[in-house]
Amino acid sequence: MAAPDPKPRRESLRELAHLFAYVRPYRRRFYIAMVASFVSMTFGALFPFLVARLLAAAAPGLPPVVIAGLRPTLDQVAVVLIASLGIQAVLTFFSSLSFNSVGERAVVDLRQALYARLIAQPMAFFGEHRVGELSSRLSSDLAQIQDTLTFTVAQIIRQSMLLVVGLVAIAATSLQLSGIMLATVPVFMLAAVVFGRKVRRFSREAQDRLAETATVVEETLTGIANVKAFGNEAYEQRRYAAGLAGYLTVILRTARSRAALVAFIIFAIFGAIVLVLWWGGRLMQTGQLTHPQLTQFIFYTLFIGGAVSALPEIFSSVQKTLGATQRVRELLREPGEEIPRAEAVAARRLTGDVRFEAVHFRYPSRPDLPVLRGVSLDVRAGEKIALVGPSGAGKSTLTALLLRFYEPDTGALLLDGKDARELPLAAVRGNLAIVPQEVLLFGGSIRENIAYGRPGASEADIRAAAERAYCHEFIARFPEGYDTLVGERGVKLSGGQRQRLAIARALLRDPAILILDEATSSLDSESEALIQSALATLLAGRTAFIIAHRLATVRQCDRICVLESGVITETGTHAELMAAPSGTYRRFAELQFGVGA
Ligand SMILES: Nc1ncnc2c1ncn2[C@@H]1O[C@H](COP(=O)(O)OP(=O)(O)OP(=O)(O)O)[C@@H](O)[C@H]1O
Ligand SMILES: [Mg+2]
Repeated sequence: MAAPDPKPRRESLRELAHLFAYVRPYRRRFYIAMVASFVSMTFGALFPFLVARLLAAAAPGLPPVVIAGLRPTLDQVAVVLIASLGIQAVLTFFSSLSFNSVGERAVVDLRQALYARLIAQPMAFFGEHRVGELSSRLSSDLAQIQDTLTFTVAQIIRQSMLLVVGLVAIAATSLQLSGIMLATVPVFMLAAVVFGRKVRRFSREAQDRLAETATVVEETLTGIANVKAFGNEAYEQRRYAAGLAGYLTVILRTARSRAALVAFIIFAIFGAIVLVLWWGGRLMQTGQLTHPQLTQFIFYTLFIGGAVSALPEIFSSVQKTLGATQRVRELLREPGEEIPRAEAVAARRLTGDVRFEAVHFRYPSRPDLPVLRGVSLDVRAGEKIALVGPSGAGKSTLTALLLRFYEPDTGALLLDGKDARELPLAAVRGNLAIVPQEVLLFGGSIRENIAYGRPGASEADIRAAAERAYCHEFIARFPEGYDTLVGERGVKLSGGQRQRLAIARALLRDPAILILDEATSSLDSESEALIQSALATLLAGRTAFIIAHRLATVRQCDRICVLESGVITETGTHAELMAAPSGTYRRFAELQFGVGA
């Protein structure tokens, strides 16, 4: 028993219809392509008719040729034939070009829509999907859809027209012979249904397998330093090979069905031709059919045969497209977050009061693990809070909630005394900036990377931010200055330089609330001093949450919160917490900073 389709056919057809919305803006060109294609087909359809006239004009003893009341000579028919071929060629050029341009444009629009929807997804979405799988949708699924829009649609129109014209023409030539020929059609239909169903099922599976292998490539290439450092090249090779082997098994099964189908169809087509020739020959023997008529019949039969044999390809391509469409539409249907707009950000400047009220939270991807278990924290505007605690305590998670990457399960986050959920997302994130532990730079120039904090910032603002973050000096030393390319993910800069660029970026953003996930890697003392000064500038006049790993930073803070297993166990200044003889902080500080004891 075949595995049931995940969705009934009619539904996936409806999804395909939705995709045609992307063709709508170009429908004028699409209609032109259809008309050009139609006219070109008409000339094509005349071909066997004209060939038969050519033969008849050449053969003595047959009834005279009459076209549109005229009696053309052999040469004249030949000229008409060539002219019709010429017209057909020109029209084919235009229709093919137009179909392609409509298809490509529609798919570019679709790609944009899909990408926009993809990056608008909430963070939880990215916890559940792998990057490789998502980028495969943008590449292979869309390539499949593109193929349909640029090529298959034209093929469907072309082949179905040829089919109709061919059928009418053979019926007009000889009804008896048409009957013989059409008797073979059920054989073709049966083959298409039986093999087609298999091909469809296998090819969806093959696409999924291929997407899995794409995930492996994506993951290893983004983490190539890790792969090499651990000497895991061979392991990754095996992982990739295993994925490909799975793909190969499925695709070969598909290929087998498809090959069997093609072989069968070719045999059946030529078998049908032999059958028709044989029967036609008998009709000629009894004088019921002339030689040119039989030739014409055979040509039209070839049209029909060509159209019918193109059907499985078209059919399987449409099937693949239905699978791709389904996945693409699934993504397009996912509700995204609102996209921040510059006006919304500017309109609502927060002062920076933050309150967590009995916040409980679990990650949606891991609902059985409580991460925050009743965190309450009241922070006045301008206050600096150090978050310390063991790994996995929930420090980063707390800042993720502040960014509204996720919503608390129960409890609330209040910003300026208002429930954060009532503020537009843009207003929340627009007032926040983050200096992450691992600074991730984009592959562009230093200028672009700083300007990422506030796209459209003026040159003077960018420079001022760089100066205040103690970046200007090292940037000025590069021959290309602010145009220096940082390399993919910033690999051409040192850790300390990257940190300071991230601080410049945050300064340019000028947020009311700052999140700083302090780097754990130690820097040389000069770099360290520069970063501490840059940070002091950055922190001035803002609320700050600092996941601190250094004593110097902790000491700058107004309050230290110790987070353990999702609850705040101690709060106070460094001095206060050190005064508690058996406090967690004291133990932590002794271990981490080597103080006290
Ligand atoms: N995206 C996620 N999906 C599911 N669980 C997560 C996710 N991120 C973190 N966790 C889990 O939540 C818990 C808290 O993680 P969190 O990153 O907040 O710890 P942390 O205090 O920042 O630790 P560290 O000091 O090591 O950075 C951990 O048990 C972690 O496994
Ligand atoms: Mg963390």
